[in-house]
Amino acid sequence: MGSIQRIGILTGGGDCPGLNGVIRAVTKTAQHRYGMEVVGIRNGFGGLVRKEWGLLEDHHVSGILHRGGTILGTTNRDNPFRFPVTGEQGPARYEDLSGEAVANLEAMGAEALVVVGGDGSLSIALEFFRMGVPVVGIPKTIDNDLMATDVTFGYDTALHTATDAIDKLHTTAESHHRAMLLEVMGRNSGWIALEAGLAGGADVVLIPEIPFTYENILEKIHQRRSRGKKFSIIVVAEGARNPRGEQVYRQRGSRRRLGGIGEEVATEIEERSAMEARVTVLGHLQRGGTPSPFDRILATRFGVKAVEMVMAGEFGRMSCLKTPFIRSVPLEEAVAQQKKVPPGGELVRFARSVGTAFGDGKEAPWNEGAV
Ligand code: F6P
Repeated sequence: MGSIQRIGILTGGGDCPGLNGVIRAVTKTAQHRYGMEVVGIRNGFGGLVRKEWGLLEDHHVSGILHRGGTILGTTNRDNPFRFPVTGEQGPARYEDLSGEAVANLEAMGAEALVVVGGDGSLSIALEFFRMGVPVVGIPKTIDNDLMATDVTFGYDTALHTATDAIDKLHTTAESHHRAMLLEVMGRNSGWIALEAGLAGGADVVLIPEIPFTYENILEKIHQRRSRGKKFSIIVVAEGARNPRGEQVYRQRGSRRRLGGIGEEVATEIEERSAMEARVTVLGHLQRGGTPSPFDRILATRFGVKAVEMVMAGEFGRMSCLKTPFIRSVPLEEAVAQQKKVPPGGELVRFARSVGTAFGDGKEAPWNEGAV
């Protein structure tokens, strides 16, 4: 595989802090260590179909390590296998343009493709690999819901943002004696809520993996009040299920996205108690901003490893962290299922041990009545 002259790289799915660190690491390693050219494909797989690309030079990747977002642009639509084609009038229809995408990759002269993405983009990458495209994946997402890597880059920065928000809510909650709810992202996994809740000392954490009841949340709030703690901090994952077992969505036109469970919990608290409740939805702030040092380093390690994988002919695989090493795993393994918080796992157990409630009534016995 020493003969590879040119590789392509694209970033797909929702952006996250650290993407620019990967693009920089891939470009610098490919150019300076192996003498290859790197083509940057714009706006995810959409750019591969629409022929939007350009050669990445040193000056494109210089000074971007500390910048959030992605210099290449991204999208979480534009799956080439089900590509939205808008006609003159009427609704979009979908076509399989994967053949065009492969032809475009050849036209670009790229002999391998590096895909930086979450489970959606990496599943598409796997389909291309099965069509014979030499693909290497790099795992990114703030949700940390990818199997086969200890952690994704972007998650640590999101965790800092969420923890900072909890710290800020703490002082105002205490002053007004309120229940303050913070709704965080994470899709169907509760990692951000759980770990930010742990770091911020939240009183209640509600995650998709642990069913909760309003009675149990109120019980925790009342226990705290009876001990003189007249405020409570509640962190809610956007994907947490209400006691009817439903996730809550915001609908705009034909599109719906997770969001609104915080408001639902706050309404129930106010209706069932004399306590005031306020909701902060942290939203896309979690995806923005300067990547943390951890994310910059992890992004750099993943980027360098991906180029080494290209050189070694390790295609159909994804770079991953198996602490303390960067390794590679088959893409199938990475996208087989989403990584969830184990409800009986160590982190949940430790959180319960320091008094965090999950709304399931299973408080640590020594914490019943604790504040
Ligand atoms: O997967 C990352 C993520 O930020 C999720 O946490 C969230 O549910 C989703 O993307 C939001 O997507 P969009 O940017 O399309 O609203």
